[in-house]
Amino acid sequence: MGNPGTFKRGLLLSALSFLGFETYQVISQAAVVHATAKVEEILEQADYLYESGETEKLYQLLAQYKESEDAELLWRLARASRDVAQLSRTSEEEKKLLVYEALEYAKRALEKNESNFAAHKWYAICLSDVGDYEGIKVKIANAYIIKEHFEKAIELNPKDATSIHLMGIWCYTFAEMPWYQRRIAKMLFASPPSSTYEEALVYFHRAEQGKTYLKLHNKKLAALWLTKARDYPAHTEEDKQVRRNRSSL
Ligand SMILES: *[C@@H]1O[C@H](CO)[C@@H](O)[C@H](O)[C@H]1NC(C)=O
Ligand SMILES: *[C@@H]1O[C@H](CO)[C@@H](O)[C@H](O)[C@H]1NC(C)=O
Repeated sequence: MGNPGTFKRGLLLSALSFLGFETYQVISQAAVVHATAKVEEILEQADYLYESGETEKLYQLLAQYKESEDAELLWRLARASRDVAQLSRTSEEEKKLLVYEALEYAKRALEKNESNFAAHKWYAICLSDVGDYEGIKVKIANAYIIKEHFEKAIELNPKDATSIHLMGIWCYTFAEMPWYQRRIAKMLFASPPSSTYEEALVYFHRAEQGKTYLKLHNKKLAALWLTKARDYPAHTEEDKQVRRNRSSL
């Protein structure tokens, strides 16, 4: 195919198999490196693995530093844990463990640095993930917290298209909440979370104004949320393409 995206991916893959051995060595020596490696070096290595889509290697690398006090490292570990949880070869049991583990790391990242926008973003995302294992009451209670943290992430970094887009999804989800769920929510909470399609659209447009969410090298996350928002109206050509391609993701 003459598609530049495909070409770039191909290039990345060959660069990866070339560097694969080196990467493996770095990881196997990590125990030795541990004492001396600066956090920046680990982060650089982690970001390389993330960009390369080396989900499991990334998790193996960062899991060695799970006692770290560094927010930058901890939110990346949260993201890596949930990425491994999403892999199709991860069993349901492992998935559940990883999803809760991810939330724990994100929580610690936040405790270490409340000014870190990514810590707020990943805390919100991880909290949303555990909703799959919780009852409706916890899910609704968490919805308020999720919103707060996305808002905080956007406040700290108004250019972060991911958080803005996910805030749009949040609004969309509560705008389309079916009446029976709304009734349960009203029974449980004085003012259940609610939103409107208009509010959701404001966020979607804002997310698109800057870089499009999908251009942020974060296709996996985009796919996940697009699947969650099944009826999210496709309003750009890219959205439509993603919809067409979704079955293959
Ligand atoms: C917390 O995060 C912010 C934003 O990333 C950064 O500027 C600041 O230096 C961090 N603070 C500490 C104590 O690491
Ligand atoms: C969708 O698939 C087509 C054909 O494989 C490809 O050219 C296009 O880049 C894909 N679009 C997205 C947004 O993934």
